[in-house]
Amino acid sequence: MSAIIVVGAQWGDEGKGRVVDYLAQEAHLVARYNGGDNAGHTVVAQGRTLKLHLVPSGILHRDALCLIGAGVVVNPERLVEEIEALAELGVAAGPERLKLSAAAHIILPSHRALDGARDAARGQGAIGTTKRGIGPTYADKAARVGLRAGEMGDPARFAERVAALVEEHNRRLERYGVEPVAPDEAAERYRAYAERLSPYLTDGTALVGDALAAGKTVLCEGAQGLLLDIDHGTYPYVTSSATVAGGALTGLGFGPAAVSQVIGVAKAYTTRVGRGPFPTELTDAIGDRIREVGREYGTTTGRPRRCGWLDVVILRYAARVNGLDGLALTKLDVLSGLERLRVAVAYERDDGARTEFFPAEFGVEELARWRPVYEELPGWEEDISGARRRADLPPAARAYVERVEEWVGVPLVMVGVGPGREQTVLS
Ligand code: IMP
Repeated sequence: MSAIIVVGAQWGDEGKGRVVDYLAQEAHLVARYNGGDNAGHTVVAQGRTLKLHLVPSGILHRDALCLIGAGVVVNPERLVEEIEALAELGVAAGPERLKLSAAAHIILPSHRALDGARDAARGQGAIGTTKRGIGPTYADKAARVGLRAGEMGDPARFAERVAALVEEHNRRLERYGVEPVAPDEAAERYRAYAERLSPYLTDGTALVGDALAAGKTVLCEGAQGLLLDIDHGTYPYVTSSATVAGGALTGLGFGPAAVSQVIGVAKAYTTRVGRGPFPTELTDAIGDRIREVGREYGTTTGRPRRCGWLDVVILRYAARVNGLDGLALTKLDVLSGLERLRVAVAYERDDGARTEFFPAEFGVEELARWRPVYEELPGWEEDISGARRRADLPPAARAYVERVEEWVGVPLVMVGVGPGREQTVLS
């Protein structure tokens, strides 16, 4: 039995899709366990670029089965769009290859409207959500009034439930002074989605459990990253799901003994989209350079990402909270050409306290009292995109990855040196 969990070790956008794509070659089942279409990864198929938000990246590997698990929130319109876009590219994404857990929750247009209204009402304290309805859908799930995917099995009844929930949401939208969503229209559209998607419904726990019992590899694909986790991130500047490795167990429904490996993915620097604390943020020309060279603009919203130095205080925390067995470092090539590189190796407070692990639990006000302590390393001029082994890297780049490995205390299993699938340094 073997489940491999791939998690983001920073604030999302670490390049998990690429690591999943690599590992999916060996996987029987690739399963998403959290989040919704707030996530996004770009895949290249038939020479065309496609943005996927819900369908696991394993769909491009003909032999892998894909599951959208119970812990995911699903916008059915987006799912239908992705299935159709994949079909156009000749990628089979029918019910024989793609499964939707009956326990996943459904995002309604009124959840999206509430998301926008609520975040706007926060004014200066806005989270800067993706406005995909993620928070309100998880809130309805926790309040036990949400709609589950399994209900699509009876489209007529499902449509009635959609209309009733939209009406309830409209009462709240009215208080925000926001245009209501037409219940009948939503019900009609969602009835059509139910008809289209009900063949995809499955018992996700059975699918995962049977695969594990048969000795197959289940690759669990996390969305977002550790510091966006609802419990362990920079609350309230977080998303509404469990992004950590533990989320795979609850979001898919299997036990911890089945986990053989947890891989954390981090960029060779740090980025964040949306508001909230970011200790190593660079608001100068170096930050701008990283953004341009690294094409750091959101896949889902197109927003420019905030960029900063690598922070191993975060990565040690990621190793601790997720139980990381390995770390994949992506986009090392983006740092080429910078004369000197800085890495945060600890945080200090004015009262002399020092920590080597990200202090998330006491909240953002406490976090603001900590300052990063940097170490400086020499940069490198060389183009490293052709490197395939560590020995191919120039000495300064090799020293950078080796120091990171030492500081975090977790073996580096993969280093990305360019966007191509083959542009990976393995050992
Ligand atoms: P929400 O998930 O749309 O509620 O947004 C909450 C916070 O998480 C915002 O700061 C978003 O920018 C951030 N966020 C959500 N999904 C992603 C992602 O896939 N990558 C990076 N940031 C994300």
